[in-house]
Amino acid sequence: MDKIRVWDWPVRLGHWLLVGAFTLAWLTGDSEEWRLVHAYAGGTLIGVVLFRLVWGLIGTHHARFASFVRGPASVINYLKGLRIGKPPHTTGHNPAGAWAILSLLALGLLSGASGWLVYQDIGGDVVEELHEGLSAAMLMVVGLHVAGVIVGSLLHRENLVRAMLTGYKRGNPDEAIATPRAWAALTLIGWVAVCAWWFAR
Ligand code: HEM
Repeated sequence: MDKIRVWDWPVRLGHWLLVGAFTLAWLTGDSEEWRLVHAYAGGTLIGVVLFRLVWGLIGTHHARFASFVRGPASVINYLKGLRIGKPPHTTGHNPAGAWAILSLLALGLLSGASGWLVYQDIGGDVVEELHEGLSAAMLMVVGLHVAGVIVGSLLHRENLVRAMLTGYKRGNPDEAIATPRAWAALTLIGWVAVCAWWFAR
């Protein structure tokens, strides 16, 4: 297998924006003083997630949900391989990681939407509790996701974090994406700026 381009620009930039926004939101969640920053972080998070949902339909091959979301049989097969230390190598996301990714996107959307309601003083204590619960659930899935990334990197002897930075992974040359779609990453930046502004207004 060769080193091939797998992750386009929007996937990579979106990922690290999500990491930054989620971390900032966690750090500022309990403080009145940092409320505005918290809202900007939430707006950024929700903006990235909305963009990613669209990109999952129209993006490059490995960014598309249809290319990496698999049914229970593939997930069980992958987890069986994991148990004996030999999970099957996938060029894009693996079948188990894919479900963690979908959960993170769903929780990001729900946590962001409930946060917006709290910010607008809609829904009272119930929505506030819901927002806290969803955010805590997201933190747990982030923990699982990072553990999965570390285990996957070790078992496949492939630095998956570096791949999420550079876009390059091991794979068959015919699975490489043709262009990194830098223009779409510029669109992502503009869109996220609008979402963050709108959200925190
Ligand atoms: C803090 C919150 C985080 C969130 C919300 C998050 C979310 C995501 C999402 C949505 C994807 C799918 C990327 C895509 O297809 O667009 C992903 C993949 C990935 N994430 Fe994260 N992530 C987080 C933290 C991290 C951290 C801290 C690391 C580094 C240790 C990391 C490493 C990766 C890697 C390497 C992949 C690609 C996995 C693969 O090769 O299949 N993530 N993450």
